[in-house]
Amino acid sequence: MKILGIETSCDETACAVVEDGKKEIASVVASSAELHEKTGGIVPEVAARKQVESMVPVVEECLHEAHIKDPSAELDALAVTVGPGLIGSLLVGVEAAKALSLAWNLPLVPVNHLIGHIYSNFILDGKEKDIKFPAVVLIVSGGHTDLVVMFGHGRFDHLGGTLDDAAGEAFDKVARLLGLSKYLGGRLLSEKAAQCTNNTLAGKLPRPMMDREDFDFSFSGLKTAVLRLVENENYPTEVVACEFEAAVMDVLVDKTIRAAKTVGATSILLGGGVAANQRLRSQLSFAAGEISTPVFMPALKYCGDSAVYIAGAAGFNYVPRVLADIQANPSLGIMD
Ligand code: KG4
Ligand code: ZN
Repeated sequence: MKILGIETSCDETACAVVEDGKKEIASVVASSAELHEKTGGIVPEVAARKQVESMVPVVEECLHEAHIKDPSAELDALAVTVGPGLIGSLLVGVEAAKALSLAWNLPLVPVNHLIGHIYSNFILDGKEKDIKFPAVVLIVSGGHTDLVVMFGHGRFDHLGGTLDDAAGEAFDKVARLLGLSKYLGGRLLSEKAAQCTNNTLAGKLPRPMMDREDFDFSFSGLKTAVLRLVENENYPTEVVACEFEAAVMDVLVDKTIRAAKTVGATSILLGGGVAANQRLRSQLSFAAGEISTPVFMPALKYCGDSAVYIAGAAGFNYVPRVLADIQANPSLGIMD
């Protein structure tokens, strides 16, 4: 089954064609991130206008890349992100997908963006993946931090999530206060941390809620602790970045492993923009190895926002809906 997916939840306009939920045929992503770097944060109206500008060219380029001349005949269905995200951005993708569904006479599958991140693990990158259930999934993005247990395709239970800032949001805010970036600073902060050869601050920042039995997170206090540290003491930026990254990853990995043990998980999965973080990838692999549980991670190109896993999620959970029932929902939760 060949599905064309559309993703416009934030500042990326993305379109992809995916076969059987896991094989990428084509993928195109346009991003307005540079504009938001200039304004020091995303301006939703600017993001939505860029979505409007990019939508048609991105779909056209994707069809071209997939060598599709007659979408009605060559595609089986369409998929679109319906939420969570920014309402203006979501509306562009949802309305475009509905229009294409009518024009091409193809069914349309609504997809939750967070579920999409989970399905980034099922996209093939060279080898078959033997993901077994129950699986524990850690979703870490700019807007969300969630621990989920996956019992099978489309069957999830929420174990816990952040009570305040998401992990990616904490990276972005700390990157800003360290003067590394004005918008999405996660990758830059991580690169700075990698320059640190001796973490003289090791263990000095808090590991928020790590000793609690539940699976919830809190990262806003950690961000404030970094602020106090840089205001009062003069540590090199790479040392502060390294200790901040270590604190976040210690908590994420500790809770994920504890969740895996609690539910008797046979696989551990990772998803979301922060899943690109090398320290998280290696620390989680090591910890999962110690409990002999296979860990699966999306290829780096499938960590950030993309339409590949939106079409992928629709392939594994093929439930087309009547167009009138498909609505953008900015505050969609993972269990909705
Ligand atoms: O999933 P995503 O592309 O967008 C949302 O759905 O929110 O995630 C973006 C987030 C941003 O906060 C970004 O700074 C963070 O992922 N990020 C990283 C890294 N690469 C991206 N955070 C830490 N380390 C990285 N290497
Ligand atoms: Zn995302």
